[in-house]
Order: sequence, then structure tokens, then C-alpha cells
Amino acid sequence: MTHPGRLEGKVAIITGAGLGLGEGIARKFIAEGASVLLFEIDQENGQRVTDSLPKEKACLYIGDVTNQDLWHRALDACLDAFGGCDIVVNNAGVVHRAGPSVEVPKAEYDRIMNINVSPLYYSAAALQPHFAKQKHGVFVNISSISALRPRPSLVWYAGSKGAVSAITKGLAAEFAKDGIRCNAICPVIAETGMVASVLGGTDTQEGRATVMKGIPLGRFATSEDIGNAACFLASEEASFITGIELAVDGGRSLN
Ligand SMILES: NC(=O)c1ccc[n+]([C@@H]2O[C@H](COP(=O)([O-])OP(=O)(O)OC[C@H]3O[C@@H](n4cnc5c(N)ncnc54)[C@H](O)[C@@H]3O)[C@@H](O)[C@H]2O)c1
Repeated sequence: MTHPGRLEGKVAIITGAGLGLGEGIARKFIAEGASVLLFEIDQENGQRVTDSLPKEKACLYIGDVTNQDLWHRALDACLDAFGGCDIVVNNAGVVHRAGPSVEVPKAEYDRIMNINVSPLYYSAAALQPHFAKQKHGVFVNISSISALRPRPSLVWYAGSKGAVSAITKGLAAEFAKDGIRCNAICPVIAETGMVASVLGGTDTQEGRATVMKGIPLGRFATSEDIGNAACFLASEEASFITGIELAVDGGRSLN
């Protein structure tokens, strides 16, 4: 007997879905029955992922999530392609190279805050009216373990993710009356292109081993781990869960 997917009939906008964790989330959502609009700035990777997914389930929207107008256009594109929108995953994000905080250039600080935080404002502004009208909707925002457990050297990144977590909780409280849920996921270091920056600029075995020591389950996160967590939070199985920070961290926050 086949079971319906956890996201059967749902439609999601997933930002940064052309690579890394966003790609994993898009693949999991589609495997669980959702249709997905991939909101991605990188044409090549966005196309690569979209082409590898069932045509009727995946639609690519090329654009920068820090452009407010594009959020309204992305919603329109999603409605045109799939006739609805039920879920937004704010995944696109960037990190600065780990190092002394006062040596991080101001332009880099601005870039981190702009890309990691402002899309939460834009997505709320564009999607809340739509979700409130239909009396349901889900925001899943990708924060970081560094929001729960800030450490030296990635302080501005941690600050941006602290904002992601706090905004998620505040919006959860504010939007609940309209049946809208908002949750954050806090991944530990994951196997993506971000590893080198998190390790200070170079991806080395030594650097990996040092980080690994702090993860009780003994490995980095994968895009499947984050896809599974995002799927759960977006699904009806999590219908009574809002305003949480779900650590997907192999126990990192215990150390
Ligand atoms: N990789 C980790 O170790 C880790 C740990 C904790 C949290 N996170 C968070 O997970 C999320 C995904 O990270 P990742 O490791 O998959 O990164 P990644 O660099 O592998 O992929 C990020 C994707 O987002 C896209 N993107 C970047 N800026 C964009 C913009 N302005 N508009 C649209 N798309 C944009 C990129 O083109 C890319 O496809 C980020 O929010 C990151 O902070 C990552």
C-alpha cells in the first residue's frame, strides 16, 4: 500500500534551492508530494536542480531574495505555476570567513545582515496577506546552531542568525491567530560549500577534526537531515508546533 506524502498537494517557495541545504529541502519536499518554486540567484545551479526534478513539480524563479519587489513577483509566479502557496522556506544565506570579529570588513557585515535577515521581512510582507486570507501557511526559516550557541570568530554570522530566530518567534506569536506557523531550524556545520568559510577560509582535515570533536554524534549535518526537519515542520504532523528553534546538530548544543 502506498502512503500519501507528508506534503501531498502542498506548494512551497524555497530560497537558495540551487545548492546545499536548499537543494536537499527541495528534493525532500518534492519526494513528499509538494510542488516547489526554487527562488535562486544562481542561474546555472538553479537550472541544474530544476532540470533534475519532475517538470510538473518544480519551477525555477531566478532572482535575489534581498529585492523586495521580487518576493511579490515570486509569489505571483508560484500562483501561476501551481495555483497556490502554502509554505515558505527562507534558506538562502551567506557566512563570512571565520576570524577575528573586528577584522571582518563592514561591507561583509552588511552583506551578511542583508542576505540573512532582510528576506524574513520581505517574505512576511509578501506572504502574510496571502496566508492570512487562506487561514493557513507555514514559514520555515533556516537559522543556525550559532544562534543558540555563539562562539568566537563567526560572531556577525551568529548575530544574523540570532535575528532569524528572534524574528521567527515574534512572527509566530503575531501570526498564529491566522493559522500561520513560523519555526526555525538550527543546523550544525553541514557538508556544503560553506565549510571552508566556517573553518577560517580553507577546508582541511585538521579543521574538520577539530569541529567534529564538538559534535557528539560524530559527523557533520547533511542536506537530507535538514530536508527531513524542514519537511516535518512544514507538514501537518507539526500543526501544533510554532515558534521553535529546532536544533539539528548531532548534540552540538550539549557540549
Ligand atoms: N552549511 C552549514 O554549515 C550551515 C550551518 C548552519 C546554517 N546554515 C544555513 O543554511 C542555509 C543554506 O546554507 P548552505 O550551506 O546550503 O549554503 P550554500 O552556499 O551551499 O547554498 C546557498 C544557496 O543560496 C543561494 N543564494 C545566496 N544568496 C542568495 C540571494 N541573495 N538570493 C537568492 N539565492 C541566494 C546561493 O546561490 C546558493 O544556491 C543558510 O541560511 C546558512 O546560513 C548552513
